[in-house]
Amino acid sequence: MANRLFRKKSVEQIIDASRSTGKGGLAKVLGVRDLVSLGIAAIVGAGIFSTIGLASFNGGPAVSLLFVFVAIACVFTALSYAQFASTVPVSGSAYTYAYVAFGELFAWIIGWALILEYAVSNMVVAISWSQYFVSMLEGFGIRLPGWLTMAPAYASEAYAELQAHGMASLSRVDQLAAAAYQQAPRVGDIPIIFDLPAGLITFLVTWLVYTGIKESRTASNVMVVIKIGVILFVIFGGAFFVKPENWAPFAPNGMEGVASGVAAVFFAFIGFDSISTTAEECKNPQRDLPRAMILCLLICAVLYILITLVLTGMVNYTELNVKDPLSYVFQYIGMDYMAGIVSVTSVVAITSALLVFQLAQPRIWMTMSRDGLLWKRFATIHPKYKTPSFATIVAGVMVAVPALFFKMDFFVDLTSVGTFFAFILVCAGVLYMDYAGISKQSKFRVPYINGKYLIILGLLLAVFGIYFYGQDTIAEWRQLSFLEIIEHKLLLIIFWLVWLVLCVMGYIHRFSLLPVAGILINLYLMSQLGASNWFIFLVWLAIGLLVYFGYGYKHSKLNNQAR
Ligand code: ALA
Repeated sequence: MANRLFRKKSVEQIIDASRSTGKGGLAKVLGVRDLVSLGIAAIVGAGIFSTIGLASFNGGPAVSLLFVFVAIACVFTALSYAQFASTVPVSGSAYTYAYVAFGELFAWIIGWALILEYAVSNMVVAISWSQYFVSMLEGFGIRLPGWLTMAPAYASEAYAELQAHGMASLSRVDQLAAAAYQQAPRVGDIPIIFDLPAGLITFLVTWLVYTGIKESRTASNVMVVIKIGVILFVIFGGAFFVKPENWAPFAPNGMEGVASGVAAVFFAFIGFDSISTTAEECKNPQRDLPRAMILCLLICAVLYILITLVLTGMVNYTELNVKDPLSYVFQYIGMDYMAGIVSVTSVVAITSALLVFQLAQPRIWMTMSRDGLLWKRFATIHPKYKTPSFATIVAGVMVAVPALFFKMDFFVDLTSVGTFFAFILVCAGVLYMDYAGISKQSKFRVPYINGKYLIILGLLLAVFGIYFYGQDTIAEWRQLSFLEIIEHKLLLIIFWLVWLVLCVMGYIHRFSLLPVAGILINLYLMSQLGASNWFIFLVWLAIGLLVYFGYGYKHSKLNNQAR
């Protein structure tokens, strides 16, 4: 059984399969500039347009530093992605890579986790689009009824807060939410509240993707220019209204406040990996993919840091708990026409992020279906439009329905935990490729620094650092009983244990340092996401395993070839 669970595809098998499905002949047209443009189209979305609001509200201006830290984790992961993409240069994804490195079971698990990265993240993007759309309409004097523009839980929580503490305790946005609750039509006692624009835009984008409108290079470049344009507009326009006193205190809620923004900040970087799926269409994937991914990350990191500083400099961080912070800050300081420009351009910019992931998700399902791990229908190609029609519709419904009814925060956490997990496996995959000798076929390799002693040295430095400079942390741990440590610190314990295991394995196998650093930084950030997110993620994985053992295990093409 173990043999079947870990059956692997060879690099040759994957390349042959891509040729036999007719994909081997894709035009090799993409250069670094195109790849950077595609990357930014995918990366810049709800994260910077919406979730940065709550992160800044909790962490204050110091969230800008969190962007640096998370960008570093992403760079290490990007290098690992680039090595895979240059070894298996077909239009795959982490799913395809895992099939080579770890075998079928892990490939399935990664494919399942990627649903969180692509489909669940798009629920957030759709909700974010709706916030900007509503704000844009208001700029034109059109006010949709509140009960048509938000998640029911959001309105009912605001109403409960209103009843408990009175109107004065609510922010301006929450007052509108509470009013929406009161004004909503009712079936019996149940108020009818849903986010109509979020659902509608998803249906619209799904329809575009279904009928075969692909992001051509030109269209993608135009959208990216609009995106960068609106962000630069906020940075340079907002800079005139920055009051440096808003930056003090820099971290008003300490490390804990900053760390609570990890999911949101990481969410803002998700998507850089999507360009690895274009490996077959690159002129020179070995050289260009790593460059493009790192350039994308650098550009986004700089923009994100500047935008955080501008937002937290324009208004006090306590004002930023809104879903459309980029236009809200201009409204707040009375610059309505600037708020209007930001709203209108943001609506276009966020649509492109929605489009990229709605295109990517069905294609991953299609690949999994071709491998026999998902039902055959997921690989159905529309005779006229030449798109994976069934998978596209499923992806549309899967994103639209939750976007109509749920709050975005839950999806941000779930997306982030799933993507961290996938990133860790990709970094670990490079270690495996080195170990199994597959790396010899890689045209790009993660720069090798021998980690034999350095991983151990890093651990010792971290322990000494905590011993000498982390007195508060030590005091906090000392106050906890054994059971409380397990309850509250389990995720951190897992992090330290993994580091210890990597010390031993790294010593024996002379592990490459950078992928190890990628694993550790990603795992550390993941440990900051909170146990409930891990729990929900584990439930997600358990469901995935049921599907695999119920279907894919038996129907896998590799299984049938082996017979
Ligand atoms: N990074 C993407 C976004 O922020 C997922 O929307």
